[in-house]
Amino acid sequence: MGHILAIESSCDETAAAVVGYGGGLRVKSNIIASQIDAHKIYGGVVPEIASRKHIECITQVTEQALAQGGVGFGEIDAVAVTYAPGLVGALLVGVNYAKSLAFALKKPLIPVHHIEGHICANYIASPGLRPPFVCLVASGGHATIALAEDDTEYRVLAKTRDDAPGEAFDKIARALGLGYPGGPAVQEAAKNGRGDAFQFPRVQFDGSLDFSFSGVKTSVINTLHNYKQKGEEVPVHDIAASFQSAVVQVLAERLIACAKKARVKRVALAGGVASNTMLRTLAEQRAKEEGLEFYCPPPVLCTDNAVMIAARAFYDLRRGKYGKNDLNAVAALSLGEREAQASHRETTLCKP
Ligand code: KG4
Ligand code: ZN
Repeated sequence: MGHILAIESSCDETAAAVVGYGGGLRVKSNIIASQIDAHKIYGGVVPEIASRKHIECITQVTEQALAQGGVGFGEIDAVAVTYAPGLVGALLVGVNYAKSLAFALKKPLIPVHHIEGHICANYIASPGLRPPFVCLVASGGHATIALAEDDTEYRVLAKTRDDAPGEAFDKIARALGLGYPGGPAVQEAAKNGRGDAFQFPRVQFDGSLDFSFSGVKTSVINTLHNYKQKGEEVPVHDIAASFQSAVVQVLAERLIACAKKARVKRVALAGGVASNTMLRTLAEQRAKEEGLEFYCPPPVLCTDNAVMIAARAFYDLRRGKYGKNDLNAVAALSLGEREAQASHRETTLCKP
């Protein structure tokens, strides 16, 4: 069995994982050092703090991943790393660390697009899943519905025109005084509220399946201000539940609509927001009603991790497509875009 060592540092989690391949993908370790406590007091991720924390713990996290996987550096066959998109300073820490490792070990360096990684978490959770399938990636920085045409080709069918859903969850949680990260906090508060108490907007564009979450966010904030101005008690649970329903219903409906448009029979979820219980339940129920197969990774593989990066890297490794040793981090790079620096050309230095 070969082994991929993967590194992920695009946002506020420093993660490393060892995944075995040959007769299927096997997770040997999955180490995630969360920086939540460092960012909590600011109500969101502070880029400079994120970079510094990654530098502080990337070596330890990698060593832990190897130890837990029972694998030494000598048994690593490739080093995979997230190079885009994300916070550029945070990405650079992982990219430079992975480049150094690949160079020192004389093993291939495999650059991975973060969103493609999220989608490939489904291959770990459901080894039987094969393309084509349509996947909703909903996270703190992204909202995309993509068609996985084969193991390495993705086509965007719909995307957000403004905010990402996770970002909306985080902002609303902060406004409601529920803490950070907002997704789990809103989900918890929503348990004791009515999802139909407020009718927050569900935006639909003519002739497009794209999303928009800025309207629902503004509407929730305005509702909140109205209560505060009148000196009335804010119905936090009802607002949380109604906001969650508005976002989740749009996401689930668009996923089904995209699957119909692409004429595929399988739908999947990915990204941090895919840990949301209501989204998982509703998307599965809607998929069943439409006769579609439904796939979703467990929550630990929905939020940022390095296992998903290894899973995506496996398909490039198998084809002999490696990154160049002058690989750079790229802050903004939409899914499916091919970028010169990570053009997967073979190099002499990083080739085994
Ligand atoms: O995929 P992820 O870990 O990082 C990015 O690539 O952005 O996603 C993090 C986002 C955060 O905005 C967080 O609030 C959201 O996922 N999230 C959730 C839940 N768990 C995490 N949103 C809704 N419900 C949840 N249970
Ligand atoms: Zn992510």
